[in-house]
Amino acid sequence: MRTLSLCSNDFIDDDGSVHGVFTFRPEFERDISDRCILSLFDVSGEWSRPYREAGYPVAHIDILNEHCPCDVWDINGMEWLDDNGLCDVWGILAAVPCTDFAASGARWFAAKDADGSTDASVALARHTLAIIEFLRPAWWVIENPVGRLPSLVPDLKEFGPWYFQPCDFGDPYTKKTGLWGEFNRNLKRTPVPPTEGSKIHRMPPSEDRQYLRSITPAGFARAFFEANP
Ligand SMILES: C[S@@+](CC[C@H](N)C(=O)[O-])C[C@H]1O[C@@H](n2cnc3c(N)ncnc32)[C@H](O)[C@@H]1O
Repeated sequence: MRTLSLCSNDFIDDDGSVHGVFTFRPEFERDISDRCILSLFDVSGEWSRPYREAGYPVAHIDILNEHCPCDVWDINGMEWLDDNGLCDVWGILAAVPCTDFAASGARWFAAKDADGSTDASVALARHTLAIIEFLRPAWWVIENPVGRLPSLVPDLKEFGPWYFQPCDFGDPYTKKTGLWGEFNRNLKRTPVPPTEGSKIHRMPPSEDRQYLRSITPAGFARAFFEANP
């Protein structure tokens, strides 16, 4: 198996209290060692978890990654990709930061537009698209909650959105989320009643609130993986 010089996000797996115990079970007979997954803006490791558990090499890029923080802006050319063993990427997951886009924060849009935060976030989303275009993976996907990402980055419009709710895939809460990209949208639905409602929006203030709100739901991650091996 190819070794990535970027770290894998094993700190998540070490923290059994938060994310459970990591177990590795190869699920495919075919060789997937050359199917490198680039998971951008991934601190929890949850979206890429099914790939990791199936033995795919996964490179997690996040500035908050405890063991090896990495800035997506650093992915700026062939030399960087080559140095990190990422010239040949099979799939790209990108949970683009939504702070300046999510409709739930609309009351702060004017201030963010005025202080330059919005422009910086748009630039980062565009940079993400540039990485995708450069690497031309077999599939790619960008995730964001309902909001103004597609209107501020109109290049995305031809690629989505395709909306889902966590409860469509077994997690009993709602958080309407859009996907844009080139990927198999035929995800196997396992709907459950949203008995926990919109728990993400009702989360009490805490240091971890933003992190907890943004963790990719496990049922969706599993269904995405199964449709996009
Ligand atoms: C909306 S959250 C996505 C979290 C993801 N769904 C998960 O389960 O970990 C956006 C993430 O982008 C990261 N981030 C923001 N700017 C970044 C940058 N320039 N380079 C790398 N990561 C960045 C943040 O640390 C945050 O973890």
